[in-house]
Amino acid sequence: MEIVNLNLGEHSYAIHIGAGLLSDERLLNQEVTGASVFIVTSESIAPLYLAKLQAAFREHRVDTFVLPDGESQKNLSSYESIVGELLTKRHNRATTLIALGGGVIGDVTGYVAATYQRGVNFIQIPTTLLSQVDSSVGGKTAVNHPLGKNMVGAFYQPKAVYIDTDTLQTLPDRELSSGLAEVIKHGVLADGEYFSSIEQEMTALRSLQPESMARTIRRSCEIKASIVAQDEKETGVRALLNLGHTFGHAIEHLMGYGAWLHGEAVGTGLVMAADLSSRLGRITQSDAKRIKNVVASAGLPTCPPLTLSVDDFIESMQVDKKTTDDGLRFILINDIGVADLVTDVDEAKLRETLLARESLAEN
Ligand SMILES: NC(=O)c1ccc[n+]([C@@H]2O[C@H](COP(=O)([O-])OP(=O)(O)OC[C@H]3O[C@@H](n4cnc5c(N)ncnc54)[C@H](O)[C@@H]3O)[C@@H](O)[C@H]2O)c1
Ligand SMILES: [Zn+2]
Repeated sequence: MEIVNLNLGEHSYAIHIGAGLLSDERLLNQEVTGASVFIVTSESIAPLYLAKLQAAFREHRVDTFVLPDGESQKNLSSYESIVGELLTKRHNRATTLIALGGGVIGDVTGYVAATYQRGVNFIQIPTTLLSQVDSSVGGKTAVNHPLGKNMVGAFYQPKAVYIDTDTLQTLPDRELSSGLAEVIKHGVLADGEYFSSIEQEMTALRSLQPESMARTIRRSCEIKASIVAQDEKETGVRALLNLGHTFGHAIEHLMGYGAWLHGEAVGTGLVMAADLSSRLGRITQSDAKRIKNVVASAGLPTCPPLTLSVDDFIESMQVDKKTTDDGLRFILINDIGVADLVTDVDEAKLRETLLARESLAEN
């Protein structure tokens, strides 16, 4: 088993990574302090893993809550249903909430944990690659509002994260590729050597070769943990984790949420950020091509839909911009392994990248 520590003072916790952790009763009980646990999961995960997890808490009162699958469930109504069930079953402040599932389950359960009776013990058991390397690390919790994604939420750190790499065996290929986009992102923004190893091991990763996968999850968690440790509330360096996301969010938004998986949009967003970085003279064309090739080899799209116009894109990115007071801001690449937050990007160069979309699909 591998352990990555997230150092956040009194909010510090360990991320445990290994095969078969869902059967490790002793480990799973380490951070459970009260007499009851409440597990939240989804319809497709429950038949696969819920009984196994429940068995680890034989000594406790265990209640479970199963949500339908999908991003559309990450809303205030799910939040209210979970809180209602906690109250009906008389869970008090000593209870432990456990999220068993992907980022949707992790985000909504985390927000309930942050607010139920002003905050209760929280444990994450992420079961998608994306949630293992990204959403379960760093304490962002949220639900969506009809007027915007993740608009209601809190920073709330779990007491522990348990990543059972065996759970990836049942994950659909498309979801695996989606998680690989965030893995590639970590290499591009923080560690050139890691990027090279991802390039070399892509086939092993896509076939879930255990050592390769465990090493990759560990390195991605380390990178995210070290950035979050420097900037828990995203006032500075944590923004680098948004590499590829300004373009990616525009694709998700313009296509309608759900049409493209988040990681698919981020993969294409990375290719576009690399193209813009090379047009601005920050990286070579051959480095931009390396990034495009690794995104393609992960089974991800490299080109946004040609039906989207340049103006639609720019307008959508302006909306994204409203989250800050700066001008149009991007995370750009200075070298493979080094990224930088750049404000006031030259709009003419941005238009060039958007106009060159077709060439991004070519080899
Ligand atoms: N909190 C953060 O920092 C953060 C970061 C990135 C993304 N997110 C959020 O995460 C969400 C996306 O998460 P996701 O990509 O994990 O999607 P998801 O939670 O929707 O899971 C994808 C699908 O895979 C199924 N599934 C999950 N694990 C499985 C398994 N082991 N076997 C078979 N099927 C399985 C799920 O039921 C679901 O249908 C978005 O809401 C996004 O906003 C949050
Ligand atoms: Zn992301």
